[in-house]
Amino acid sequence: MMSKPRVYVTRDLPGDGLDAARDVCDVHVWPGDLPPPRETLLVEVAEVQGLIPLLNDRIDETVMDAAPHLKVISNYAVGYDNIDVAAATARGIPVGNTPGVLTETTAELAFALLLAAARRLPEGERLVRAGGWETFKPALLLGRDLYGATLGIVGLGRIGQAVARRAAGFSMRVLYHRGDANAAHQLGAESASLDDLLRQSDFISLHVPLTPQTKHLIGARELALMKPTAILVNTARGGVVDPAALYAALRDGVINAAALDVTEPEPIPMDDPLLTLDNCLIVPHIGSASVATRERMVHIAVDNLLAGLRDERLPHCVNPEVYE
Ligand code: GLV
Ligand code: GLV
Repeated sequence: MMSKPRVYVTRDLPGDGLDAARDVCDVHVWPGDLPPPRETLLVEVAEVQGLIPLLNDRIDETVMDAAPHLKVISNYAVGYDNIDVAAATARGIPVGNTPGVLTETTAELAFALLLAAARRLPEGERLVRAGGWETFKPALLLGRDLYGATLGIVGLGRIGQAVARRAAGFSMRVLYHRGDANAAHQLGAESASLDDLLRQSDFISLHVPLTPQTKHLIGARELALMKPTAILVNTARGGVVDPAALYAALRDGVINAAALDVTEPEPIPMDDPLLTLDNCLIVPHIGSASVATRERMVHIAVDNLLAGLRDERLPHCVNPEVYE
């Protein structure tokens, strides 16, 4: 009798989606909330054929070398900058991700951050709790209107497009840099160079993956091009923004405010200077964190996993060249 393939999952995942894997695999789940220590990961993968990592597990050549039987890496995320995809391809290992299901959920968080920063919700909330609500004041916590403002979307992919659809409901003009021109046309988004987008936008929302080309795409030069009233939203990856340059720009009034779901590094250290600023809203990487979406992501990750174990094409494969 063939033994069941062994699978390692680097965290317990919400819902019952892993049951489909348990039916046909010998599933081992790291029980902690924190990522498994590197030494543990390297030991755990020795016998596995399938691996479901999270975005904060670094899956590099060392891990792959420690996993000689590995047939599939199924990331529980749409982003996959935590995986050395070229190394996986070189070993003939397909890598899966979870696109689509989290698009609207992440776009909703981007919009939540946009509105929260524009209308200074965290400052207002802190003020109320600190007993600072003395009376109605005409000039208390004045913010920025979205209505009629220009939103610059850097990366008009699935999530960027979902943000653009929401912007239409707020009567915003939408500029975009990088992305699908057909989709842009249908959404009424206008193409712009990055510099023009930065100069003209009142709000800027980042939706590019983290790659060597997008690392610190937004640095001191780019921040200086933005309007002093501009608000920057990042729900993509922390590394797309140079954090030291962002701190200086927020402190010195080069831009008005930032709202971040992602930081570099993650988690943000408690002594990070960004945490000293009132005009920087930070939440802990919760873009896809709705009950329904986090459960659907498990089903997609398991579908990718099981396809890979059966030597079938992954439904969502980031390195299709592995099949050539
Ligand atoms: C979350 O950041 C993801 O990439 O799914
Ligand atoms: C991610 O799903 C994107 O392509 O924006």
